[in-house]
Amino acid sequence: PSTAQVLVASNRGPITYTLGEDGTLDAKRGGGGLVSGLSAVDDKLWVCAALGDGDREAVRRGVGEPGVRMLDIDAEVHADAYNGIANSVLWFVHHLLYQTPVEPVFDAEFRRQWASYETYNRAFAQALAEEAGTGASVLVQDYHLALVPGMLRELRPDLKIGHFSHTPWAPVDYFRLLPDDIGEQLLRGILGADRAAFLTRRWADAFIGCCTEILGGTGRTRIGVHGLGADADFLRRRSQEADVDERMEALREQVGEGRKTIVRVDRTELSKNIVRGLHAYRALLDAHPEWRERVVHVAFAYPSRQDLEVYRDYTAAVQTLATEINGAYGTESWTPVVLHVKDDFARSLAAYRLADVALVNPIRDGMNLVAKEVPVVSDHGCALVLSREAGAYEELGEDAIVVNPYDVVGTAEALHEALSMSAEERTGRTKRLAEAATALPPQQWFLDQLEALRQE
Ligand code: G6P
Repeated sequence: PSTAQVLVASNRGPITYTLGEDGTLDAKRGGGGLVSGLSAVDDKLWVCAALGDGDREAVRRGVGEPGVRMLDIDAEVHADAYNGIANSVLWFVHHLLYQTPVEPVFDAEFRRQWASYETYNRAFAQALAEEAGTGASVLVQDYHLALVPGMLRELRPDLKIGHFSHTPWAPVDYFRLLPDDIGEQLLRGILGADRAAFLTRRWADAFIGCCTEILGGTGRTRIGVHGLGADADFLRRRSQEADVDERMEALREQVGEGRKTIVRVDRTELSKNIVRGLHAYRALLDAHPEWRERVVHVAFAYPSRQDLEVYRDYTAAVQTLATEINGAYGTESWTPVVLHVKDDFARSLAAYRLADVALVNPIRDGMNLVAKEVPVVSDHGCALVLSREAGAYEELGEDAIVVNPYDVVGTAEALHEALSMSAEERTGRTKRLAEAATALPPQQWFLDQLEALRQE
């Protein structure tokens, strides 16, 4: 008999297994808001999908961790649901990523993938229905699992069900790109929850807008806003460890003595706007040549969703442009762009500590935690250039230099302003940014949601 009282469901779980050539399984723990948020809770179960061969092998061998159940969903079904629907359609809709004159095209192939998305959501709903104790709270995460609340409600009417969106939500005119029946199914799926929650008021309002226009309202589902903050205690401790110091030394050497640094850290993700960021940096070097030789753009663009061709192309575009800028402006003693593509958390923290300017310019972003982490970790104060389209703008807008992410000239001027800021002003702003960024630490963020759900 199942007893778990708190359940979390997400596509990506807290642990990843890789299968070595000798057949050994290597477990790697992930980070992020949900992992630290959940650490405050006992008697919990995390239901997630097996994502690769290592995970699937772990499930088959019965290897696992207490408190985590990985679902070995058929690999093709998972690929259709994750790559085909979640990341190529739903992610694109909520981040406004389509080039609408030619896409999307919702054809028979899309319908086939949609059926897989339903199958994949049903597998989660069934596993949760099996595992949840009577009256338990179930917190379903993100656009991968939009149908789960509705499906689970039918299987287990006794449960308290929450859904949390970590992404933006599309405005209704854009949401309506989706075929009508699919759009309705998605909204009704989430409205199967007692509470549907978002990272900012803006995304919550967009969701309410879609429900009102398309369905005539949100029914009995309560809408909440929980703005996930940075984990100050963890970040401050972790960023002082020896491996971070080592990487700071290496970065300092790459940047060169006495130069300022503009830092960015992202997944290589279409919505992060890395290419326009590089254009803006080049525009800065053109409009303000006094910065040549005196600044280095340290850009970390970690591989993401490489099964998708547009992401592979985007990754290549980032690399090509960085090389081009270095070729056009670099000198014997100065490399204008230092680009790293291999994921390295300690190095990211080192860059945060070192940064004079952080560039966070997404075209649309649910929150963006980099904008919140940099001010917490910064050694000597860091000016933040922040897109008004990031969820974090709602909380950090006042002390950041705010940009329209499409405006490359405007972003270049913002970089100039940030580089020119006095040390005093920079430190003052960083202090206020850090306060705003840590207002709701992950554990409290999670407990608040749980408490609100239990009140329903
Ligand atoms: C976003 C989504 C998460 C997702 C993460 C990484 O933050 O909201 O649900 O896990 O991106 O993407 P990936 O596809 O690698 O899980």
